[in-house]
Amino acid sequence: MIKRTAIRGPVITFQADPFSTDPMSALRYEADGLIVIEDGRIVAFDAWEILAGTLSEDTEVTHYPDMLISAGMIDTHIHYPQLPMVASYGEQLLEWLNRYVFPVEARYADIGFARSVARSFLSELMRVGTTTAAVFCTVHPQSVDAFFEESERLGTCMIAGKVLMDRNAPDNLRDTAQQGYDESSTLIDRWHNKGRQLYAITPRFAPTSTERQLELAGSLLKTRDDLFMHTHLLENRAEIEWVRELFPARSSYLDVYDHAGLLRPRAILAHAVHADEQDFQRCHDTGCMIAHCPGSNQFLGSGSFPLFNALKADRRVRVGVGSDIGAGPALSLLQVLSDGYKVAQGLGTSLHPAQALWLATAGGAEALGLEDRIGSIRSGMHADLCIFDPAATPLGRIRSQTAESLSDLLFALVMLGDDRSIAATWVNGRCVHRRDASPSV
Ligand code: GUN
Ligand code: ZN
Repeated sequence: MIKRTAIRGPVITFQADPFSTDPMSALRYEADGLIVIEDGRIVAFDAWEILAGTLSEDTEVTHYPDMLISAGMIDTHIHYPQLPMVASYGEQLLEWLNRYVFPVEARYADIGFARSVARSFLSELMRVGTTTAAVFCTVHPQSVDAFFEESERLGTCMIAGKVLMDRNAPDNLRDTAQQGYDESSTLIDRWHNKGRQLYAITPRFAPTSTERQLELAGSLLKTRDDLFMHTHLLENRAEIEWVRELFPARSSYLDVYDHAGLLRPRAILAHAVHADEQDFQRCHDTGCMIAHCPGSNQFLGSGSFPLFNALKADRRVRVGVGSDIGAGPALSLLQVLSDGYKVAQGLGTSLHPAQALWLATAGGAEALGLEDRIGSIRSGMHADLCIFDPAATPLGRIRSQTAESLSDLLFALVMLGDDRSIAATWVNGRCVHRRDASPSV
């Protein structure tokens, strides 16, 4: 017999896009909702009083009366291998890569080390309510195996790939164009669409790939139209100047990727801090997406991504949010959204809390082309959920009591929230994290 479970409590989910309508009207709020789950998927969602009578007696109902039940959050740009060097002092992008990132990434030749970090990383993601992420591994194919094995065990939907890097990197972190192609191709056969795992062809960024490597990445991408592509773009001024020198025949940084056939739906470009009008137009035309990483951009001093310009209605670009661990110092997307609010304010724009939460849930899913399975609470979606507790901390409790409206409460959650604000996380219909669970012995 198929086992049903259910979750009851206040629910928030998106029924429209809060950037193209009044933000709060895009949100569906059920003060006492019921989500019925069967075989990992949501089979019904409505008010408790409407659905309660349909539950069979043996349905186990988990009740979160003072929380806000939401779709799990989606981190569209993060590096799992950088977890051990997060919060490293004092440098901007290129020096930071050489000084801190490359030495730690070299350690992933050891699959035991990779497995141990992958396990900690996924457990941390659950603790902060992130149920799907687009993840850089390292140049070592075993770093990808280690990551997907852990994700499969947990039942999460993850996008990941082996880094392609055939120049301008230490000897022990370089592949060759052909090796990168062959290893990626083998990993695609092994992991893409295996359960909930999805593969991204992952050239690190233009400076660390030859033209030949990018060209081969483009031809591999062409072999299947549901593959992802994941790279960095226009993050830092010195990086941009370097790309100009390395690719004199290309009209722009974005054109380096465009020329290689890498721009299309499901292509993820991290940062794009210094994108201009032409870049946004081309992103719009090709359907690729930008991962906005405000915490990382501030941490490395990269600049301020003009979110509202990217979202201009006549040539709107798909945008999600990313923590970009380890350049970003915080794994919690609530903290990333709080940074996003401050960056938007600095540019004279205001990121409404409903818009912020949409970017981290339904908007992220849509940007990735995964809106048919994750990012919102409705029948047919996977039951990937995070349970927000706006009153988790003493300050959160005080502020929740003074909240004048749902919008005000959500804003306080975004501005004050972090890992402590996640009471529980569910993946594929299973509770995988409970904040108040007693520690296992
Ligand atoms: N550009 C190329 N590699 C990286 C990386 O690991 N992190 C960030 N933030 N930018 C990059
Ligand atoms: Zn990155």
